[in-house]
Amino acid sequence: MITPVILCGGSGTRLWPRSRKIKPKPFLPLVGDNTLFEAALLRCDGQADFGPAMIVTGAAHLDHVTEQLIDPEHTGIIIEPEGKNTAAAIALAALRLPADAIMLVCPSDHHIGDVAAFQSAARAAAALAAKDWLVAFGIAATAPETGYGYLKQGEAIPDSQGHRVERFIEKPDLARARAFLADGGYSWNGGIFAFRAGHFLDELARHRPALAAAVRASVEQGTVDGNKFHPDPIAFGQIEGESVDYAVMENTERAAMVPATMAWSDIGNWQALHEALDKDEIGNAVRGRVELKNCSNVLVHTDGPRVSVVGASNLIVVVDGDDIMICTSEGAQLVGKLEGAANQ
Ligand code: GDD
Ligand code: MG
Repeated sequence: MITPVILCGGSGTRLWPRSRKIKPKPFLPLVGDNTLFEAALLRCDGQADFGPAMIVTGAAHLDHVTEQLIDPEHTGIIIEPEGKNTAAAIALAALRLPADAIMLVCPSDHHIGDVAAFQSAARAAAALAAKDWLVAFGIAATAPETGYGYLKQGEAIPDSQGHRVERFIEKPDLARARAFLADGGYSWNGGIFAFRAGHFLDELARHRPALAAAVRASVEQGTVDGNKFHPDPIAFGQIEGESVDYAVMENTERAAMVPATMAWSDIGNWQALHEALDKDEIGNAVRGRVELKNCSNVLVHTDGPRVSVVGASNLIVVVDGDDIMICTSEGAQLVGKLEGAANQ
């Protein structure tokens, strides 16, 4: 049985003004009718070999999480006293599960177009995790992105659909990212992992003993409230936050990968969202009251006011409440630097 562990953490700035601190990206219906968080739950729902999910989130997001759960009765929620990054978030879930549980760690802010491909990669990853591999999902790298981890594919693991990861490099600089892309033997890390809970905790204790001990203390002194769990805030506060990529995946000898061709996007900015959306034949995608004339490759999202655009191409317009954000497709990566985004 696979236990989906859904991480609902930080809030970004690059999808401002739609995504805001009070309602960040996972809780918005950016692609289709479901929010990204709902879609993450639905991808693991209704499958005989996927059990109930466990959510790890902060108190600030609890209302959104509760409102959007699809199986509230069976879903466990761990409420972090504060954000301490993904190594701690995953360790919390691992400590609340039996040592032999197979965790499928999923971000709540990605889009995956091919759900069947995701599920089959998840099954392949779970089979490897049961044999004590720490398994990442490898996504074909198409650009020298510096915001991702890179997996150097090693030898095939017998009787599996996976490979060893020879090296895991988190967020390389641009020169190294370019070299990895040119080499051809590297994939992006998709940010989805399969671990056996007890094995993950062993590896965390090996590579980050202080972090592992602090999370364990926060769970031992934590409190249960129905299906919610509150780690002890004082013990949790001692943790030096680090991502699972730096803390465990870069250091372990047991990293493996399964290839995943599943129309994956982490929707890092409005242009990435535009790419993930269904568009008309000339590349336009709209949501809300929008009229376009002689436009191509235009994305418009409005939550109220009518937006009319004539003769534009490669343009993005987003209206949310009192805020209007207009950028070119190329400019989308700079949206997070706007004053409005920073002070949202
Ligand atoms: N509960 C909880 N608590 N969740 C968290 C926390 C936390 O303190 N910090 C981050 N998360 C959640 C985020 O909400 C997101 O869903 C996921 O964990 C990954 O965190 P990000 O902060 O988005 O990581 P990243 O995008 O910089 O890098 C990761 O993802 C890339 C792919 O999108 C890494 O795994 C990279 O290697 C990978 O390429
Ligand atoms: Mg991310």
